[in-house]
Amino acid sequence: MKVLVTGGCGFIGSNFVKYVLENFKNDKIVNVDKKTYAGGGNNVEHMGLDAHPNYIFYNADICDRKKMEEIFEKERPEIVVNFAAESHVDRSITHPEQFVMSNVFGVFNLLEAARKTGIKLFVQISTDEVYGSLSNNSPSSKESDLLKPRSPYSASKAAAEHLAMSYFHTYNLPVIVTRSSNNYGPYQFPEKLIPLFATNLIDGKKVPLMYSKENPGLNVRDWLHVEDNCAAIWHIIQKGKYGETYNIAGNHEKTNIEITKSILSSMGLGEEMIEFVPHRLGHDFRYSISDEKLRGLGFEKKHGDFEKALKDTIIWYKKNENWWRPLKK
Ligand SMILES: NC(=O)c1ccc[n+]([C@@H]2O[C@H](COP(=O)([O-])OP(=O)(O)OC[C@H]3O[C@@H](n4cnc5c(N)ncnc54)[C@H](O)[C@@H]3O)[C@@H](O)[C@H]2O)c1
Repeated sequence: MKVLVTGGCGFIGSNFVKYVLENFKNDKIVNVDKKTYAGGGNNVEHMGLDAHPNYIFYNADICDRKKMEEIFEKERPEIVVNFAAESHVDRSITHPEQFVMSNVFGVFNLLEAARKTGIKLFVQISTDEVYGSLSNNSPSSKESDLLKPRSPYSASKAAAEHLAMSYFHTYNLPVIVTRSSNNYGPYQFPEKLIPLFATNLIDGKKVPLMYSKENPGLNVRDWLHVEDNCAAIWHIIQKGKYGETYNIAGNHEKTNIEITKSILSSMGLGEEMIEFVPHRLGHDFRYSISDEKLRGLGFEKKHGDFEKALKDTIIWYKKNENWWRPLKK
């Protein structure tokens, strides 16, 4: 199979490239990435996969329709997995425009290119954030729930999903959407909570925890190991049904203060290393998704022990300073 991956230089995309190239010898990857700041870590090179015979890279912007059509025409991919996006919520609050461009207009270009060339499957990678903010008592979100995104990031991702599904219903383009929880693991840009905190602490710096008297770090996120996300996406490519959406949960819901304490204790440090900072604007309280539908496809995760996987992730950042240090500058 020839799989065109967009955003394959970023965190999840590069882990997906690795997952496919290392596990499936007959499958080819075409990686299309603009190499924004988030794709600037040379992840695929650091993984030693850039010269793999089944790997091709195009440094291109998904907002460039002509270029996308040229690449699709030349490569004729069977599967498209769209990871490319602006992905950092805080940046979407200060600079929303690029989120609309890449996360909505870029997706439109890919859908058009896919429709013109003809493909077997278009997978739109989305997020649990499209469900909006839950309370502690709310049941976990199901795929059929109403979307209530509340940040420019999550709103742009919800728009992209709707657009992708409209191509399924209108043009019979085979589309599947995945919505995953917060990912963690190797090669995550050190602006996101776990790598930011781990790399700050390696450097003896404090970690910024969003905090107020009314809400002392109680926001809840569900944590999913990136390898489990990649395996789940691959499983869905094999077994999922066109026109369907699948949640990919970690089933490890933690408050931000809990995860901060876990990181501190696994590095032998105390709470004096926490710096309290104000909550982000419109800070969603809790995300929680049910993965019953995915389990119905027979998928099982590998990383069941969260505390162990978190420790291993921190060890990875300790051992790979050469990867993250240039990105932190
Ligand atoms: N990280 C998470 O916890 C998480 C959770 C759920 C869903 N997602 C979704 O998964 C996908 C990947 O997330 P990530 O954390 O790997 O993101 P990331 O920010 O690490 O990587 C994004 C990649 O997309 C590329 N890109 C951005 N705009 C582009 C454009 N216009 N043209 C071509 N390439 C472009 C960047 O260069 C980068 O390599 C995103 O769609 C995100 O919304 C992420």
